[in-house]
Amino acid sequence: MLSEVSRRDAFPSLEGMTYLNSAAEGIPPLAVGEAFTQYFRDKQLGMDGRDRHFAQWEAAKALVARFYGLSAGEVGICSSSSEAYNLAALALRLKPGDEVVINDLDFPAGATPWLQADSPATVKVWRARDGALRVEDLAPLLGPKTRLVTTSLVSFFNGFRLALPPVVETVHAHSPALLAVDVTQALGRVPLDLRGADLVVSSTHKWILASHGGGLVGVPSARAEAWSVPAGGWFNLHDPFGPERFNAAVSRPGAASFTVGMPNFPAVYAIRAGLEYIDGVGVEQIDAACRPLVEACLEGIAALPVELLTPRGPGETAGILAFRHPAADEIHRRLRAHDIHIMAHAGRLRVAIHGYNTLADVDRFLRELRQAVAELGR
Ligand SMILES: Cc1ncc(COP(=O)(O)O)c(C=O)c1O
Repeated sequence: MLSEVSRRDAFPSLEGMTYLNSAAEGIPPLAVGEAFTQYFRDKQLGMDGRDRHFAQWEAAKALVARFYGLSAGEVGICSSSSEAYNLAALALRLKPGDEVVINDLDFPAGATPWLQADSPATVKVWRARDGALRVEDLAPLLGPKTRLVTTSLVSFFNGFRLALPPVVETVHAHSPALLAVDVTQALGRVPLDLRGADLVVSSTHKWILASHGGGLVGVPSARAEAWSVPAGGWFNLHDPFGPERFNAAVSRPGAASFTVGMPNFPAVYAIRAGLEYIDGVGVEQIDAACRPLVEACLEGIAALPVELLTPRGPGETAGILAFRHPAADEIHRRLRAHDIHIMAHAGRLRVAIHGYNTLADVDRFLRELRQAVAELGR
């Protein structure tokens, strides 16, 4: 794992700062800055730079594939998770009578394409109980008309981590639905086993320590036909410059259909560098090093007169903890005045712990939080 020296070398901006907000924005290592510089150098070559851009593209896809447990051909890269979900909605070609299951711990990107006024499907909401999604509550929402179940693996809201195998089993037992999984709050932070997911989506500016402007899409080849996006463009099309180009547009199947135009190469360079960095440290090592920090932070928060939103069952957390307090904004302000960075948003305070965090970060946060809560009362 990171030593004091390797941490300082890779993340100089963390010096003196207590940064517990990677669920919003990861801190990129210097290697990501070098990747941007490399992009600029390659771009200065004009069209000759494209060979280099595409080498980064292939390297980024190969890394994403490894993290997703897929092959590089089963990975596409678009520009955000939201874009990926909207393209997925096009691919589904939903009809009246179809049903989609979302849940109330999910980020809007995965939940809202189906809530648009002209989306024909009926939306059912899988509701969390005590901060956790239970498969026994999912089963009654499923049936022969369910076309899609969509969920985050780790909730942006309270950090609840879903166990995927029972969800896969329940979806298959009760419906013909496809299962879409958003791993934005998990990728780069916890080891993934995504078997059974029919579509995988992730943003790129959080735990993988890359940049904005990426949407990492995984489509297992067995699901390529189901997820072929009927969008205009060229990068996504079969023979876009051929003799039939003004008669018909035919999308490439699966993951390749999610990149409609020229890839966002600056983001691609950063994705390659961010994932390479994570891979070099080891996601298992990151997870193992973070576990005691998460546990200490959870214990510390739970001992205070705040409303803990994160469930405490075994295996139900990854890197995010969340809680409510009536004076949340003032607590946030006081922490920030001590250069302690957490998230105040969507009615709660959220703490995120990544591999570059230390027990000293957690101790400092808890000390200031304790003091703020004591002074501000309940
Ligand atoms: C689970 C999840 N998905 C997606 C996003 C962001 O989506 P986009 O890449 O469209 O900005 C977030 C951001 O907080 C998130 O937590």
